[in-house]
Formats: sequence, structure tokens, C-alpha cells
Amino acid sequence: MRRKDYYAELAKKKGYPARSVFKLQEMQKRFRIVKPGFRILDIGSSPGSWSQFCLEILSGRGKVVGVDLIKQALFLKSKGNYHFIEGSIFLSNIERRIVDLGPYDLILSDAAPATSGNRTVDTQASLNIGYKVLQIVELSLVRGGGLVVKIFQGGGEGEYLKNLRRKFEKVRIFKPQASRKGSKEVFFLGFGLK
Ligand SMILES: C[S@@+](CC[C@H](N)C(=O)[O-])C[C@H]1O[C@@H](n2cnc3c(N)ncnc32)[C@H](O)[C@@H]1O
Repeated sequence: MRRKDYYAELAKKKGYPARSVFKLQEMQKRFRIVKPGFRILDIGSSPGSWSQFCLEILSGRGKVVGVDLIKQALFLKSKGNYHFIEGSIFLSNIERRIVDLGPYDLILSDAAPATSGNRTVDTQASLNIGYKVLQIVELSLVRGGGLVVKIFQGGGEGEYLKNLRRKFEKVRIFKPQASRKGSKEVFFLGFGLK
């Protein structure tokens, strides 16, 4: 029998579509990244728990723009301040729609590639997403804005961090308790886009 996953059970109980909400909740507790009135871009947003969490904090003010390869079904609860873009952030028409709905005070990326099991391949794919997120930051994050981006550790993340330190006033590295055991994911947070 499979052991029950504490965070998956808790997400179900609290009405979130994914256990990943607790990673954002931990970051929120520690760094207070989401603030009422913010315009937020949520990259890799499906099935929608981060967007839902943000909408709850915004409570009708500001907005959340979610983007993902897969459609998400949240959003009956939102009151017109939620937008969803279906498609890959690597496509120029998707990037254009993201930029058109901006600018943003905060960009979140929990986007992850479909894992192949080959660590080198998966790490590189995750970094590729991370670098694409930085391009979107350049195009649509306000000066002083914040970033949360997930990266799979395994090589290359040091160089990525250097990039972040050049762009942001302050950078933090965070490994949530809610990450699955053995997961190589880590979250980089940038505060105050220069
Ligand atoms: C871990 S899930 C995100 C969970 C989400 N934060 C939540 O709480 O519901 C990662 C998501 O990244 C998306 N993704 C991966 N590559 C992407 C890309 N190139 N463009 C947009 N979304 C992408 C996947 O489709 C997947 O839904």
C-alpha cells in the first residue's frame, strides 16, 4: 500500500488542486512575497494552487495571470482579476500575451519540465525554463519587483544565481519543507529588480 502524502491530503482538505501550494505558503510566511493589490504572473500555473492562493490574498484587487501548457479549471472563484494563457512560455505569441497583460509586481515560476529520469537532461531543461523566465522578467517585471523561480539543482544553478544577483537587490535560496523527499528542486527569490 502507498503511504499517504501528508501535504497532498492537506491540500485536498483545504480545497487546493495541488500540494505545491504549501511551498508557496512557506515562502509567504517567511518573506511575505505576495501583497494585496499586486499584479502577479504565475508561470507553470496548472493545476492552479499557487494562483488560487494568490487570489485569496489579493481578495479582488490586483490580478493574477496564469500561464501553462495545460489548461486549469480553477477560477470560478475569481472575480475578473484572473487570466489564463494556455501555451508554452517559449512561444513568441505566448510571450506577447504575457507582456500585453503586464506589467507585474511579482513573477512566480513553479514551472518544471516533464522529467526524463536523466538528471543532466532534467537539470538542463529546468535551467532553460529559468533563463526564459529571466527574459520575461526583463520584459514585464516592474522596477523594484520580485521573483520566485524553481530550479532543479545539479549543475548550472551557480551561474544562474550570479545572474539573479546582478538583476536584484537581494537574492535568497529556499528549500521548502513541503518539497518531496529527495527532490532536487530549490527556489530562488529575487527582491527589488534593479
Ligand atoms: C509543478 S507544476 C506547477 C504547480 C502549480 N504551481 C500549482 O500549484 O498548481 C509545473 C507546471 O509547469 C508547466 N510547464 C512546464 N513547462 C512549461 C512551459 N514551457 N510553459 C508553460 N508551462 C510549463 C507544466 O505544464 C506544469 O503544469
